[in-house]
Amino acid sequence: MRHFSKAVFGFAECRGEAAALARALKARSAEVSVHRFPDGESLVRVPAAAKDAILYRPLHHPNPKLVEVIFALSALRANGAKRIILVAPYLPYMRQDKVFWPCEALSQKVLGTMLSRWCDVIVAVEPHLHRTRTITGVFPGRRGVAVSGALALARYFKGNGIAKDTFVLGPDEEAYRSAQPFAEALRLQWGTAVKKRRGDNKVAVRLPNAARLKGRPVLIVDDVISTGATVIAAASVAKRAGATSVAAAVVHALYDRRAAQAIKRAGIRSVVSCDGVPHPSNKVALAPDLAAAIKALR
Ligand code: R5P
Repeated sequence: MRHFSKAVFGFAECRGEAAALARALKARSAEVSVHRFPDGESLVRVPAAAKDAILYRPLHHPNPKLVEVIFALSALRANGAKRIILVAPYLPYMRQDKVFWPCEALSQKVLGTMLSRWCDVIVAVEPHLHRTRTITGVFPGRRGVAVSGALALARYFKGNGIAKDTFVLGPDEEAYRSAQPFAEALRLQWGTAVKKRRGDNKVAVRLPNAARLKGRPVLIVDDVISTGATVIAAASVAKRAGATSVAAAVVHALYDRRAAQAIKRAGIRSVVSCDGVPHPSNKVALAPDLAAAIKALR
């Protein structure tokens, strides 16, 4: 077995992004191998040992990936890793941070406790935190680092140009977390809509200050597009308010082809996303932001 002082370990489906992070950190890169048995179990093998080990895997569609990640983390530790950093650009289960109805699992706490057992630092991009105020609060006894995806998106628009009169719209009250830093970085006007979710695919969005959108291009900025219901409803109210065009920028694009078609049909001109979740809309590489966050750790 090879021994590295520092290495980034990725999985097959995120090979390119893991290698980009390794390059940005001037570290070695290696791929975790996973053999899937016919009965659905996974045999996980890390190809090298590293004192300073960084395991990279976006955890959208998380359930099968989580088991393999824990196996990989355990193998890295058993083979001498002194510090293990888990980079999960998309960190799942952050929204279930409270028992909303009796007898539900408190998923955020369970996940946080489980990952804390196996690594020292957890790095995520724009984690969806609400009642738990900091990412470190999710991981008992460990350090969490939240990297801003909104600022990475702003960097992209700074480089590629954006009309000065663009109105940045967060599609719900919580979206100020992405919309505000994005808009401020680009000196654009911003505001948020008000959303009521009526089901997984059903939302109602209204605009408190609709007049501000009249005659201007609107860019909807959010942390996640999943079913597309939120961005579609927000686009519809923006158009009704007189927006000249509607486009979207999102940190994590979790939506499938069907949702992409619905987004197109809704007249949303384009969607730009970060590459923390591999997706056809990816335009923004997060490797520089993730590497800077890891280098800043002491
Ligand atoms: C909600 O709290 C998030 O910020 C997103 O607005 C939401 O997850 C988007 O989901 P969907 O695309 O399914 O409406």
